[in-house]
Amino acid sequence: MGEQRRLAVVSGGGTGIGASVARGLVDDGFDVIVVGRRGDVLDSAARRICAEAGRDGAVTAVAADLTDPGQVGAVVDAVGERAVDAVVNNAGGYLGGSTDSLAGVADWWRANLGANVLTAVLLTEALLPALRRPGGRVVLLSSIAAQRGGAGPYSAAKAALHGWAYDLAAQLGPDQITVNVVSPGYVAETEFFGDRMTPEGHARRVAATLVGRAGVPDDIAAAVRYLVGPSAGYVTGQVLGVNGGSVLGR
Ligand SMILES: NC(=O)c1ccc[n+]([C@@H]2O[C@H](COP(=O)([O-])OP(=O)(O)OC[C@H]3O[C@@H](n4cnc5c(N)ncnc54)[C@H](OP(=O)(O)O)[C@@H]3O)[C@@H](O)[C@H]2O)c1
Repeated sequence: MGEQRRLAVVSGGGTGIGASVARGLVDDGFDVIVVGRRGDVLDSAARRICAEAGRDGAVTAVAADLTDPGQVGAVVDAVGERAVDAVVNNAGGYLGGSTDSLAGVADWWRANLGANVLTAVLLTEALLPALRRPGGRVVLLSSIAAQRGGAGPYSAAKAALHGWAYDLAAQLGPDQITVNVVSPGYVAETEFFGDRMTPEGHARRVAATLVGRAGVPDDIAAAVRYLVGPSAGYVTGQVLGVNGGSVLGR
């Protein structure tokens, strides 16, 4: 029997940045489990990636709402007895809300903290025992909003990931497991903005970069592939900005 492939779990792997990460990791020789709430979206992404890569069974789809502790076990079940080489916590997004009442404020903040913090914390905690020792990798997808504000509870939620990443890096360092944050700037070709994006908003974000263009999912996937790859073993507890120069040096 040949050597088993490395295994990665990518949350939000059915769309946008996560799908690009999943595709890239398959090219790098990983088997990938993609997780999201919409099974049909995951299934079609998995089928497309396997077909493009010419490798049947390279991607497994697991439908789960990662804010719900009761649903995270489905991912653990899909991993089974295998070691997990990389957990890419990419699920998340900006959720709108109301400030008309304190109850509305609480709902708005809970929604953004749930989607961006709890999804990562619950998935990572559930997979901790399965992480490969030595050599495992954890990556958290943050946002430029964590570094320069601009999106209220979403900015705060993403910033929370940074502090948690530093603690997790310290906790897992002795096992030679690295933990890093990738912080994207504006990335087009995702579901992130839904119908919120306008031509003016797009132009403003492009103008804020030093390179004069919007990011694409593959720009972010390249950073994730580096961090989970074999050459990044001495990089841990870091925040890597991939933002076209919109925010400098932090
Ligand atoms: N696009 C940008 O400009 C940008 C910039 C900075 C940071 N980011 C961050 O990059 C990450 C990827 O976003 P994207 O731009 O690729 O947007 P996207 O296409 O909307 O991807 C977000 C993914 O997360 C999944 N997801 C959301 N909530 C979930 C939950 N509770 N449980 C499981 N899966 C969940 C979604 O799938 P389901 O809906 O099927 O669950 C979706 O596949 C996000 O964390 C986002 O905040 C994006």
